Amino acid sequence: MYLRSIALAGLLVLAGSADSKIVRTRSGVVNGGKCGRTDVNYFFSIPYAKPPVGELRFASPEPYQNSSYRVVNATTPAPACIQFTGQLFGESETQSENCLFLDIWAPASATQKSKLPVKVWLYGGSNEGGGVSNPSYNGCFSATDSIVVSVNYRLGPLGFLALTDLGLTGNYGLEDQLLALRWVQDNIANFGGDPEKVLLFGESAGASDTFFLATLPEIPQLVRAAAMESGAGRDIATIEDSQVWYSEFLNAMNCSTPDLSCIRSATASILQIAVASMPSTDIVTVNSVLINNGTRSSWTPVVDGKLIKEQPSAAGLKVPSIIGSNANEGSLFVLGAYRTLEKLEALNQTDYDEFLNYNFGPLAERVNGTYSAAFLFNGSVARAMETVLTEVSYKCPSYRALLQAEKNDMPVWSYRFDHVPSCPWFLGIDTSYLPLLGVTHSSEIPFVFNFTSALPPPNGNCTFTSSEQIISRNMSRAWTNMAETGQPGDEGVWPVWTSGESTGVVIGDAVNVGVVNYTSCAFWDQVNADLNEYWDTRGTRI
Ligand SMILES: *[C@@H]1O[C@H](CO)[C@@H](O)[C@H](O)[C@H]1NC(C)=O
Ligand SMILES: *[C@@H]1O[C@H](CO)[C@@H](O)[C@H](O)[C@H]1NC(C)=O
Ligand SMILES: *[C@@H]1O[C@H](CO)[C@@H](O)[C@H](O)[C@H]1NC(C)=O
Ligand SMILES: *[C@@H]1O[C@H](CO)[C@@H](O)[C@H](O)[C@H]1NC(C)=O
Ligand SMILES: *[C@@H]1O[C@H](CO)[C@@H](O)[C@H](O)[C@H]1NC(C)=O
Ligand SMILES: *[C@@H]1O[C@H](CO)[C@@H](O)[C@H](O)[C@H]1NC(C)=O
Ligand SMILES: *[C@@H]1O[C@H](CO)[C@@H](O)[C@H](O)[C@H]1NC(C)=O
Ligand SMILES: *[C@@H]1O[C@H](CO)[C@@H](O)[C@H](O)[C@H]1NC(C)=O
Ligand SMILES: *[C@@H]1O[C@H](CO)[C@@H](O)[C@H](O)[C@H]1NC(C)=O
Ligand SMILES: *[C@@H]1O[C@H](CO)[C@@H](O)[C@H](O)[C@H]1NC(C)=O
Ligand SMILES: *[C@@H]1O[C@H](CO)[C@@H](O)[C@H](O)[C@H]1NC(C)=O
Repeated sequence: MYLRSIALAGLLVLAGSADSKIVRTRSGVVNGGKCGRTDVNYFFSIPYAKPPVGELRFASPEPYQNSSYRVVNATTPAPACIQFTGQLFGESETQSENCLFLDIWAPASATQKSKLPVKVWLYGGSNEGGGVSNPSYNGCFSATDSIVVSVNYRLGPLGFLALTDLGLTGNYGLEDQLLALRWVQDNIANFGGDPEKVLLFGESAGASDTFFLATLPEIPQLVRAAAMESGAGRDIATIEDSQVWYSEFLNAMNCSTPDLSCIRSATASILQIAVASMPSTDIVTVNSVLINNGTRSSWTPVVDGKLIKEQPSAAGLKVPSIIGSNANEGSLFVLGAYRTLEKLEALNQTDYDEFLNYNFGPLAERVNGTYSAAFLFNGSVARAMETVLTEVSYKCPSYRALLQAEKNDMPVWSYRFDHVPSCPWFLGIDTSYLPLLGVTHSSEIPFVFNFTSALPPPNGNCTFTSSEQIISRNMSRAWTNMAETGQPGDEGVWPVWTSGESTGVVIGDAVNVGVVNYTSCAFWDQVNADLNEYWDTRGTRI
């Protein structure tokens, strides 16, 4: 006790010292480092919750126990949560179930009086993969005018398994994100941040999760604004509907008695094997009502009646938000499924029919009529699939989120990202694929993170053009403005979106005010409504 007190006294002296790399938090004294190329400090691996293991596996996270004398070595990158995907967004580095950490970047000049805006990032990866230590999410370049926080959250069954028979209500990954936002409220001032100026932003599943959280009644107490890059507006299954999918997982676990102790005591790699053995398909899938061959579910949040009381797209956003998507989101997935240009070019009507039947069931013919590969895409099945995927999974759910926000009187801003990056932004993307990918899913990430050189991160040899550097500055600045003021820029720079005008910013070779055209979504809204009706009358698949 005596020795510990001396150590504690020593640390508190340090914490009060001029070294901005040492910060006192309720999780302990965090001892960070300085970015190599910018005047920004980083703090890695700060625990915000108790390790979600043992009794806390498949359970709500609990706040990290205060131990103000603990020293956190905040220069060691955090492990990713257990990954359940091998795709581009899956992390190949260290994984651990003990993963509820967050990373922080702050200007080296920040003091407890700075009251800087705060941007809290949720990574993508289908809620099956992703992690804060991915070099493409490094905050060293965007935390020049703000504090950047990046949050690890549980994935796959560890994050979302909902089994009513076992009393599991799912949504643990979302609860992790909420707990991290509460941690930010309690601690961010010590890093120079203003807890009243917090933006929650994310891409892909990170954008979907941001959307779900931003529709909850408690969210205005935690964040001032939200930004959703390619993922807002999706419908989710109710916990009842999701039982087909989650029971498949229980079957895949081979538990002789399917009880909680069996799934709690299994090793993480057994969970991964069980997930990998669940029904899957090679067909390119879109986020339609019939996702996962009609089970209507995947590793996503559910309307559980507890945390999420109603369909988020019906509840609508509760904070001012930016909502946008990219021109060719779908290309990454179509290329990911077929791998080579030869295979893409060889796709024929039979492949398209399979794709349509799998994703749209009884409405396949209708979609085929309006999105005809022969007439609309000059016979290119790959382009037809890519376009359908872009509209159904990203553009039109975003549109529905915008419409509902307007009904809620919540100001929203929209963008269409329409610029093909001249450099790769993930290590897994080869430069030669860039023209083929076009403005694909995740293309906007380096711009929002203000990465302009050494691409792909961490130390590639590609540098963005000067016009791309301006786009980066505009986008990262707009996101900071959103945290700082609740709007991305002046009205002339970025007008509020309304269903009447549908103006926003179109990001091509430059950032310009323009029409973000959602006209084609009328067709998809009808498809969505009719598929929902089909689902409701058909009942749950057995
Ligand atoms: C411990 O954490 C709780 C919740 O964040 C907070 O209310 C309390 O003040 C903290 N105690 C100390 C000593 O930091
Ligand atoms: C902190 O972690 C880094 C990286 O793992 C290591 O090099 C360093 O020695 C550690 N510092 C302390 C004080 O343990
Ligand atoms: C983006 O990075 C550039 C240097 O490449 C820097 O001058 C600028 O301040 C950064 N902008 C923001 C908003 O962080
Ligand atoms: C369940 O059993 C099957 C058949 O024996 C086996 O192939 C599979 O790997 C097992 N799954 C797990 C998670 O152990
Ligand atoms: C989808 O499920 C049906 C049973 O409802 C099955 O016959 C079919 O093979 C499945 N298709 C795929 C691609 O998994
Ligand atoms: C479409 O391509 C597949 C092979 O990829 C082939 O088996 C099938 O016969 C083709 N269908 C038509 C109508 O050409
Ligand atoms: C789509 O239209 C083509 C004719 O362009 C036809 O051959 C094909 O069977 C149709 N597919 C579906 C699912 O309706
Ligand atoms: C349409 O496809 C044909 C053959 O695949 C090609 O010769 C033609 O140039 C294409 N037209 C357009 C406008 O792309
Ligand atoms: C840049 O890096 C890529 C990928 O490592 C490599 O193929 C290419 O040759 C490098 N280019 C230059 C100019 O060094
Ligand atoms: C983008 O940046 C340029 C130059 O800094 C500025 O003139 C323009 O207003 C910005 N546009 C937007 C939409 O932020
Ligand atoms: C929007 O797109 C539709 C086609 O989907 C087109 O007919 C219409 O002219 C476009 N509107 C504007 C203002 O660009």
